[in-house]
Amino acid sequence: VYHTPELTPSDRTADCAIAIDVLRATSTIATALHVGAEAVQAFSDLDKLMQVSEDWPAEKRLRAGERGGSKVTGCDLGNSPLDCTPELMAGKRLFITTTNGTRALQCIQACPVVLTAALINRQAIVEYVLKQQPETLWLVGSGWEGSFSLEDTVCAGAIASALMTQANCTLEDLAGNDETISAIALYRQWQNNLLELLHHASHGQRLLRLDGQEDLKYCAQTDILDIVPIQKSPGVLVSLKA
Ligand code: MLT
Repeated sequence: VYHTPELTPSDRTADCAIAIDVLRATSTIATALHVGAEAVQAFSDLDKLMQVSEDWPAEKRLRAGERGGSKVTGCDLGNSPLDCTPELMAGKRLFITTTNGTRALQCIQACPVVLTAALINRQAIVEYVLKQQPETLWLVGSGWEGSFSLEDTVCAGAIASALMTQANCTLEDLAGNDETISAIALYRQWQNNLLELLHHASHGQRLLRLDGQEDLKYCAQTDILDIVPIQKSPGVLVSLKA
């Protein structure tokens, strides 16, 4: 099932839930783990992040904060995946808070398996799901302050489309699952022009106004990182392969 955090049932869990925030939180999380961050700890609340990270050795932590697309004063980094270099990240814990992505993660953190996905690590996530065969799977697009987003929906469609092909299913098997069928249709229409779609998206437009064209280019790439970020305790993500 594909939905937004606001429509995620609070009285139920799925066997596996995947938070998606292509622009840019889950692209940043995948990249940070890929370049050697020990873990990424996500917070929806900035004060809580500051409080918890204070107890961590200063040389082993980095604080990333984003609101409205811009870096939060007092943090080491904003939310650009391009800031995640091996030199900066290796062996460190990234404490991160963002406008929407970290809230989406929070609303699924009670599920037995929680992953994060972006276009850049789509195939790694698909392989994990095919191997684990969860009975119920939620794809949760972070959106923007409660509204639909093109980039998260196209990523949900990219995951669902690959799952369908690789598990030999057809759209008929998804009958009644309107959101997922629409996400797949969006992906199939735009799969060869994902950067252009990100340019059309409202948050893509916001990031372009903030000089984020390189971030859009990076986040529009598909299957470049073999990383499965998985929750090991509430809000704490590690790389499955580490
Ligand atoms: C979010 O969580 O809303 C995003 O990751 C915003 C951003 O582009 O930094």
